[in-house]
Amino acid sequence: MIETQNLTRKFGTLTAVDDLTLRVEDGEVFGFLGPNGAGKTTTVRMLCSLISKTSGDARIDDYDIGKKEDSLKLRKIIGLVPDNVGLYESLTASENLDYYGTLFDLTDSQRKESNEHFLKLLGLWEKRDVMAGSFSKGMKQKLAIARALIHNPEIIFMDEPTANLDPESAKTVREFILGLKKEKKTIFLNTHNLDEAQRICDRIGIMNTKLMALGTPDELEGSVHGRKTVIQLRQVNDPVLDALRGLNVRNLTKEDNKLTVDVVKPEDENPAMVDAIVGAGGKIESVFVISSSLEDAYLKLVREDR
Ligand SMILES: Nc1ncnc2c1ncn2[C@@H]1O[C@H](COP(=O)(O)OP(=O)(O)OP(=O)(O)O)[C@@H](O)[C@H]1O
Ligand SMILES: [Mg+2]
Repeated sequence: MIETQNLTRKFGTLTAVDDLTLRVEDGEVFGFLGPNGAGKTTTVRMLCSLISKTSGDARIDDYDIGKKEDSLKLRKIIGLVPDNVGLYESLTASENLDYYGTLFDLTDSQRKESNEHFLKLLGLWEKRDVMAGSFSKGMKQKLAIARALIHNPEIIFMDEPTANLDPESAKTVREFILGLKKEKKTIFLNTHNLDEAQRICDRIGIMNTKLMALGTPDELEGSVHGRKTVIQLRQVNDPVLDALRGLNVRNLTKEDNKLTVDVVKPEDENPAMVDAIVGAGGKIESVFVISSSLEDAYLKLVREDR
């Protein structure tokens, strides 16, 4: 569990993270979205004890961020894929992982096993004896992911882990993250990829120095204009309109032979509307539900904040 209470970080006169209060549950994939300079990396760096907080509190499980006695224990239960990968360029992929394994006191056999497991999972096994310095950006990114997991942490912070990856590798990493979720790991994911966030995150926080919104992808989408059912008829006439009005539908609008209605639970409301229209003699050509996208919600929040 990750919990922050009024967490704030200032750099001189600039407030990078302002009064952040947030709770990420165990086993959750939490997406942290926000424009460049929103304070996402700063938040992660505070939570990983790489930089100090200015004020407020943060806890990971039973450990307090910023408390000296807790810092070693904290490092053992968290893994970080940082925004700049920072590998040892003159060591091979395998040696990089080995080095970290040693830092975390893994035995030789644990190191060997973890090393092979993650390099294979991330498609780097064939390159295990190649120097990290000669890796492409995407390969380095994947190696940094393996490195973050080498000590089997419970909570993994990932700062834009798919930023440099080709579509196929990005998919591998997303599937990898979902695999971690199945193992009940907690993932805190900074990303600019809204589609990715929507697909893999249980909840999303939209950050712009302050936390602007928090919810499931569906909740955030619904926060813009909700969902609408669009019904295309052969012909719209008064009996059809009266039948729908009889159901007290919300915001019924008509455009040629297309009707649009605001819906909250389309799975319950659509069958009733279809029955009413058919009962009034209407001929339905199609029925579909549209919702605003996460992108709509994101852009609305961020633009309103300017
Ligand atoms: N070490 C630092 N010294 C001074 N200012 C800093 C430092 N680190 C971050 N900042 C500032 O804090 C703000 C938040 O930066 P941060 O890197 O957390 O944003 P971000 O949301 O991760 O952005 P991006 O999406 O571009 O990665 C920015 O204005 C940045 O310039
Ligand atoms: Mg960042």
